[in-house]
Amino acid sequence: MKDTTAYLHLKEHDPDMYAILEREITREDDTLELIASENFVSYPVLEMAGGVMTNKYAEGYPGKRYYGGCEHVDEAENLARNRAKELFNAEYTNVQPHSGSQANMAALLTFVDVGDTIMGLDLSHGGHLTHGSPVNFSGRLFNVISYHVTKETGRVDFDEVFQLAREHKPKLIICGGSAYPRFIEFEQFREVADSVGAYLMADIAHPAGLVATGIHPSPMGFCDVVTTTTHKTLRGPRGGMIMMGKDSENPWGKVAPKSGRVKMISELLDSMVMPGIQGGPLMHIIAAKAVAFGEALNPEFKLYTRHIVDNAKAMADEFLTQDYQLISGGTDTHLVLIDLSNKGISGKKAENALERAGITVNKNMVPFDTRSPFITSGIRVGTPAVTSRGMGTDDIRQICKLIDKVISNHDDEAIIVGVRREVKELCRLYPLYKEIH
Ligand SMILES: Cc1ncc(COP(=O)(O)O)c(C=O)c1O
Repeated sequence: MKDTTAYLHLKEHDPDMYAILEREITREDDTLELIASENFVSYPVLEMAGGVMTNKYAEGYPGKRYYGGCEHVDEAENLARNRAKELFNAEYTNVQPHSGSQANMAALLTFVDVGDTIMGLDLSHGGHLTHGSPVNFSGRLFNVISYHVTKETGRVDFDEVFQLAREHKPKLIICGGSAYPRFIEFEQFREVADSVGAYLMADIAHPAGLVATGIHPSPMGFCDVVTTTTHKTLRGPRGGMIMMGKDSENPWGKVAPKSGRVKMISELLDSMVMPGIQGGPLMHIIAAKAVAFGEALNPEFKLYTRHIVDNAKAMADEFLTQDYQLISGGTDTHLVLIDLSNKGISGKKAENALERAGITVNKNMVPFDTRSPFITSGIRVGTPAVTSRGMGTDDIRQICKLIDKVISNHDDEAIIVGVRREVKELCRLYPLYKEIH
């Protein structure tokens, strides 16, 4: 176990929790993190997320709080909002959602009513729980029509999307997902939405960092509302955000009670986040978002996101060379989705064997999967976290070879132990958080 120079007060105060924290620090340091939705924040972001702003209650918004003493958290939230606007070319941002799911809930409840029809990408085809899964609020509150990818291309089946939209007249269509390796087709979705008079919501939780640097197309000119998480490719603290390219008066005739003025959509979004679905904002996390957005505005971040995609493309290339089946045949982004059917192993078994070797991935349904979500036929593999450590395409090719070795020998503990050793050696070349050790 590593001896940390940070957290010395915690060490004295709560040795049990300190020991747990040390084990997690060691795990993060000694394993290859390939979960596509995870990343490692910078040390300043970590500092801010663990800072004193966790103490502050600040229900409301800057300048309009329900509590006193908010002058500095107001500054922090304004900085986060302004940096996010600049990053994404957005006229409006709300940085308060505690997570991506809360951002989606607030956006959906602003644009549609309970019982309305919405469309989203099916969970097993790469969508997210909040895009209409029956076990999620979205599936319970709305009438959900799911669209799919085609078997041949692994890309969104726009013939089906047009046909479903014509048939079911959704009030809102969600584009984006959790396991879609290709650029989100904002322009084509806009055409569908326009053809039936639907609102278009983009969930860019996964590619947000790539969108911020222009490596992935921007949704802003095409979508009525955009949601994201802040902790994936954007490399911020765990959280959510809502944006609009342009704000406008709400089309539902909602007026301010005293003046009778027609409210802006931004006002409705703000009040749906708080008091609609949340109470006090996590001010330490909002401040950490501001720090991360500041980093993302830096030209180095563009280079970083370029490396994420270069690494993912190298990964796709190496897996294809080794006869792996990739959904959509490759990637435009930070992730590849692998169908392991031809390798004689389920996603669950592969995830377990890789974890024993110190390589963290997640099992994932593949489109048209015949296995359950608990077993799955695939794994999802992403490059944001290893790229944050400084790993490049040669390392990625080595990692793919290690993954193949484990998958091809998943019952051979001696081989898995050998790979574990190689993983540790590679990790040692790219240490995490020099500030902690
Ligand atoms: C596309 C998409 N939207 C929303 C979310 C929800 O984010 P959170 O886990 O922060 O609620 C995720 C998380 O994985 C996601 O992939």
